[in-house]
Amino acid sequence: MIDANQSIASVVLAEPATGSVFQRYAIDFCTFGTETVAERCRALGLDVGGLIAELEEACVYSDTGEPLSPRSIMELMSEIVATHHEWTRRSLRDLLRTAIKVEQQHPSHGAKLGLLIGAIEQTDELVRWHLAREERELFPALLEKASRRHDIAHELTCMRDEHFLLLGGLRRIRVAADGFVAPPWACHTYRELLASLLSLEIRAQRAIHFESFALMPRLIVAQGAQGAQGARPPRSRL
Ligand SMILES: [Fe+2]
Ligand SMILES: [Fe+2]
Repeated sequence: MIDANQSIASVVLAEPATGSVFQRYAIDFCTFGTETVAERCRALGLDVGGLIAELEEACVYSDTGEPLSPRSIMELMSEIVATHHEWTRRSLRDLLRTAIKVEQQHPSHGAKLGLLIGAIEQTDELVRWHLAREERELFPALLEKASRRHDIAHELTCMRDEHFLLLGGLRRIRVAADGFVAPPWACHTYRELLASLLSLEIRAQRAIHFESFALMPRLIVAQGAQGAQGARPPRSRL
């Protein structure tokens, strides 16, 4: 049962399948996570009852079943790397290959498709850099510092800043892909590419959200009293 006074973040965390409904209404749950469902509906002039009905329907038909029960921080990090990181790397590589294929098939739309390829390439580079940073530097440092109750504010700030960069990359892909709406000349491959790019956006936002609202708070709690001075849980944005 979803309540209109629940924060958007808590709804997506409890039921990841609701992410695609928020996405449909251009409600970026990374940016507006701390607002309640009712507040965002008011801001957008949406019928709150209608949105809640759609959110609840998404829960019923959810096939993700992502368990979000408390687990150790190391387990959370391992799961993030094994699922989100690996999927994102693979997916971006495949999408880039497909976009190049579409460009070769539609030389008359080369300029338009070139922009899209550029946006995917840029985001791919950013994503690979960020994921490697998390795996090799940020996650190990956070784990060690939190367990020793050392200040983790610097690492958390790095993660949030890098997430903003990634969200910017995803927005550039969306713009270059005209909001993932297929033009009349689009072939089957291009239509599939646009659908896959939308899936990438949803899944990447969900991963960032998970790190921001599931992993970071656990780290801050683990860090203990010392962290209460230096680090803060996600607030208005990530
Ligand atoms: Fe990550
Ligand atoms: Fe991340």
